[in-house]
Amino acid sequence: AAPLRQLAEAKGIYFGTAVAANRLGESQYVQVLDREFNSVTPENEMKWDATEPSRNSFNFGSADQIVNHAQANGQIIRGHTLVWHSQLPSWVSNGNWTASELTQVMENHISNVAGRYRGKLYAWDVVNEAFNEDGTRRQTVFQRVLGDGYIATAFRAARAADPTAKLYYNDYNIEGINAKSNAVYNMVRQFKQQGVPIDGVGFQGHFILGQVPNDLQQNLQRFADLGVEVALTEVDIRIPLPVTSAKLAQQRADYEKVVRACLAVSKCVGVTVWGVTDKYSWVPDVFPGEGAALLFDDNYNPKPAYDGVVTALGGD
Ligand code: G3I
Repeated sequence: AAPLRQLAEAKGIYFGTAVAANRLGESQYVQVLDREFNSVTPENEMKWDATEPSRNSFNFGSADQIVNHAQANGQIIRGHTLVWHSQLPSWVSNGNWTASELTQVMENHISNVAGRYRGKLYAWDVVNEAFNEDGTRRQTVFQRVLGDGYIATAFRAARAADPTAKLYYNDYNIEGINAKSNAVYNMVRQFKQQGVPIDGVGFQGHFILGQVPNDLQQNLQRFADLGVEVALTEVDIRIPLPVTSAKLAQQRADYEKVVRACLAVSKCVGVTVWGVTDKYSWVPDVFPGEGAALLFDDNYNPKPAYDGVVTALGGD
């Protein structure tokens, strides 16, 4: 069959992956990356700890590497992420800030990082993972010092820094209809009413085998109906080890279901998987005893999951 990027393009969506700058020297990695994917998301290189490790001192070396590689290979770029509680340097999280100081710190970060790539990125995950599972706000330094309004402030700063990037709110466990996705939904509705510049919602899609929600399509559609685009931004489907052929078959069906849900929603612009190969996936590090969550195995061989994506995209 044709590569995923070509099948996706024919269906009017992109097919993306997270990419790590320190793997761009590995020929097999790059070969699969450039053959299969027409969108990339830097896995860590645009996060706050990488880009502004100390106050007002910016570092763009590895992020630039990914941007340059993507531009040379016809890939769009999803910037990830401007405001997040994790991989946030301690000078930010432990600072004894007043609200006006922290607003200035956040706006300065956004204007420098989003400003550096102004006009070059398809989208930015402006704010990442700001809600708890019960729909309340996560108590980050931004939430504690600035209150609920910090998210709107961040979106306005991102728009000013890069007027052409689509501005996304991005989170996990919001793929189905539940308390957390309801809270995000209510925020997006309010932003649209108030004119806060939001263009999209990213549904990360870190799934467990056999647990892709049945209401995924319905949930994507209700967000689309608010007037934003939607995307699956970090998909992986982790398998409780050991891997068996039955589990790989289930994973194939799960991936097919995810891609079909996106295709069924006209404002769903693309699907991104969270890595090229199982070899470098974050999953086994964080969930010992689980793994094999991606489309290519440790040796870059396509798995049944790959065929599930091909089937959904109408390939042979
Ligand atoms: O950079 C250091 C390196 O200097 C050090 O030698 C090494 C030793 O452990 O650690 C390196 O940092 C690691 C970093 O990835 C870069 O490889 C961190 O320990 C590790 O925690 C970090 O993990 C990343 C994780 O976000 C952190 O929260 C994963 O690669 C990345 O895939 C993951 O991605 C997140 C998305 O951004 C948001 N949604 C969830 C998703 C999965 O957790």
